[in-house]
Amino acid sequence: MANVTPFNQTVLHWFDQYGRKDLPWQNPITPYRVWVSEIMLQQTQVKTVIPYFQRFMKTFPTVIDLANASQDQVLNLWTGLGYYARARNLHKAAQMVAEQYQGEFPTSVDGLVELPGIGRSTAGAIASISMGISAPIMDGNVKRVLTRFHAIEGWPGTSKVEKDLWRIAEANTPPERTGHYTQAMMDLGATLCTRSKPACGVCPLQPECKAYELGTPTAFPHSKPKKEKPVKSARFLMILNDQNELLLQQRPDSGIWGGLYCVPEHQPDTKQYNLPDHIEKEEWPAFRHTFSHYHLDITPVLCELTENGPEAKDSAPNTSKIMEPQGRLWYNMQQELTVGTAAPMVTLIETLKRHLAG
Ligand code: ADE
Ligand code: SF4
Repeated sequence: MANVTPFNQTVLHWFDQYGRKDLPWQNPITPYRVWVSEIMLQQTQVKTVIPYFQRFMKTFPTVIDLANASQDQVLNLWTGLGYYARARNLHKAAQMVAEQYQGEFPTSVDGLVELPGIGRSTAGAIASISMGISAPIMDGNVKRVLTRFHAIEGWPGTSKVEKDLWRIAEANTPPERTGHYTQAMMDLGATLCTRSKPACGVCPLQPECKAYELGTPTAFPHSKPKKEKPVKSARFLMILNDQNELLLQQRPDSGIWGGLYCVPEHQPDTKQYNLPDHIEKEEWPAFRHTFSHYHLDITPVLCELTENGPEAKDSAPNTSKIMEPQGRLWYNMQQELTVGTAAPMVTLIETLKRHLAG
């Protein structure tokens, strides 16, 4: 419920001294102008919006003019602002206001949210700024100020935190001068309580601000919890010939390390006909490689060609690392590798070299 609270009186007092009062959509204030400005400001900064807003108002001075325009004409004036669904919704909403409401905007938050492109927060901004209705808003600026002021734990994307924030916003929405309060909260968030460098030293809320007291304003709002990455595991076969050269095979283009030369990955349930006959000698401790979406625990397996395997006889010492037809090479580890490989293979080769040396 709307109340006079120390919080909103402090904010309003700050607005009187420092709030923005000369933005184009503040002179004059009408529901149409405030609506267009709020839609333009949804994903875009004030200084970018100003010239667009002015052109828009010149071309479409009233919501009826906007409703009668062609979509192409509206989109043309939006060129460069981005998020073009905003422009299409704006045009559709103007036609609804013209046809269903005789050109007058609905005068309640519930009525406003029925229009395309207007969510609860934008409806609150239009209602409070242009109609003097006592309604809260909850844009990024307000979320930042409130989560800091109350040191609210948890990510604002969760329904619990979101509900808490709306409850706090409602409790602090003043019964009078709500438009000034709305504008002040946006300005506070945009100019003082900024994302990475809050100016707590000159902030009127500082004496009661929990995050300031904790010394950690930028820890709020908490960010989206990172999903735990799944852990996969794989065995990689270090197959050495009698020259201590290491078998590298080019991986298929699809999947991890596509096209790179790696030691063969052991495929548990498939017969690997393309591998020379070998025996596993020892398993080494796994090490972890982390991809963007999962961890891969890599177990290196030291192998030897079997005595009478064809490769043991056929493979002449190969100092030039010539690629065999199927994308396979015997790598002399004393030389630079001239083909592409993956970072964990470099780790594995270094470990193997130390093992062979010592
Ligand atoms: N961002 C969204 N609405 C705004 C407004 N009315 N003033 C400044 N920045 C805003
Ligand atoms: Fe934001 Fe700092 Fe003001 Fe708290 S004191 S509301 S963290 S600027």
